[in-house]
Amino acid sequence: MDHFEYRDRELFCDDVSVSELAERYGTPLFVYSEKTLVSNLNQILTAFAPADPIVCYSVKANGNLSICRLMGRHGAGFDVTSGGEFYRAQQAGPATAKIAFAGVGKTDAEIKHALENNVFMFDVESEQELLTIGEIAKGMGRKAPVAMRVNPDLPPKTHVKTDTSVKGVKFGLDLETVVDVAKGVVNHPGLDVVGLHMHLGSPILKVEPYKQGCAKALALIKAFRDLGHNIRYLNMGGGFGINYRKDEAKPAAAFAEVILPAVKEAGCQLVLEPGRFIVGNAAVLVSRVLYTKATGGKHYVIQDAAMNDLIRPTLYGSFHRVWPVHPAADVPLTPDVNGDPDDPSPFRAMPNCFNQDVVGPVCESGDFLAKDRPLPALKRGDLVATFSAGAYGMSMASNYNARLRAAEVLVTGGTHRLIRRRETFKDLVACEVDCLT
Ligand code: LLP
Repeated sequence: MDHFEYRDRELFCDDVSVSELAERYGTPLFVYSEKTLVSNLNQILTAFAPADPIVCYSVKANGNLSICRLMGRHGAGFDVTSGGEFYRAQQAGPATAKIAFAGVGKTDAEIKHALENNVFMFDVESEQELLTIGEIAKGMGRKAPVAMRVNPDLPPKTHVKTDTSVKGVKFGLDLETVVDVAKGVVNHPGLDVVGLHMHLGSPILKVEPYKQGCAKALALIKAFRDLGHNIRYLNMGGGFGINYRKDEAKPAAAFAEVILPAVKEAGCQLVLEPGRFIVGNAAVLVSRVLYTKATGGKHYVIQDAAMNDLIRPTLYGSFHRVWPVHPAADVPLTPDVNGDPDDPSPFRAMPNCFNQDVVGPVCESGDFLAKDRPLPALKRGDLVATFSAGAYGMSMASNYNARLRAAEVLVTGGTHRLIRRRETFKDLVACEVDCLT
């Protein structure tokens, strides 16, 4: 569950009115609920408790230092995919937090830095990378802990741009060659093959792919051990889906049901790398309506958030619920959305609503947060909430059209703290060298 609810027809985050936050901090504004963040993490920790899991929060979903710090304080490690994310994880701490490093293109400098800073494991994605890590570690008189990331070659399970376990994607080692690659590094002086890693894709709404992935993992772990590698960890990555519409997502316990038996059979410690499941529904993006207009037979709501703040709708055709912060008395309190993501007409009839496109000021026809959405009439100055905006919202935000990136606020019960200030025009040009003046 999340902690966003309407009280007397006004949206609240925990005990704070969202419109008060918009007044105080301006819009567009990401509003995060601490209670939601912590309870989502705890849901995973509890569901997987029998495997004594190491939960590495996936920094790419949302790398804000305060959010990472909160995760660390509540027992999470970190999953990172660049030196920059490694830096964020280190800044947020605690110093003992375990940092897993994935990604197909780790540079020598990133590898060295990670080794110098006690990386928990490298999720290795190619033979060349494995040998490079081994060489660098050997040169430092170290043995690098590595998990072989395998592409388990499963049927498609999510959006083509974020499915990482179908044949032909750039991630991981092939099922057919991974054992040979592992064979080549038995007794390597710079490598300790400690685990097997797979990340299936994101978001995943069914448990079946995890079941299939685990079955393949068990066979590989046995093969690695037969070679003499001391495999201690099974890292099943992240990918657990959330309720973007209504109730399409599975609870952590449902994934645990298929993953835990495999972990037990493997005699491994479980590592998970959830991002979206923790932070996705822990935030709304609050924006203010600038104008409305009817053109070309369509109705547009032009508000001050745009694709540079939340690129998911235009990049993946993703669905985010959008609803007024103050729904009028004659409209439903929430959009009545059918939870079936395969249903092409997800909306049920809603009184006093008509189809509208919710768009931003960016100069692209692809700049939208919602298309053909039944929404009540909105007017200039109204506040709008785009839900489930916590994951891959701010972390994928840009300055396109020289727009200032939004501010972020963390709500804890009845209090709120700014966790990222709104950018300024000076920030926009801060890195540029104006050499022709
Ligand atoms: N571990 C690895 C190795 C990953 O590549 C990812 C996500 C995760 C963990 C975390 O996945 P999560 O639990 O958040 O689903 N921008 C896209 C999602 C890209 C996911 C990339 N990898 C979106 O907005 O849907």
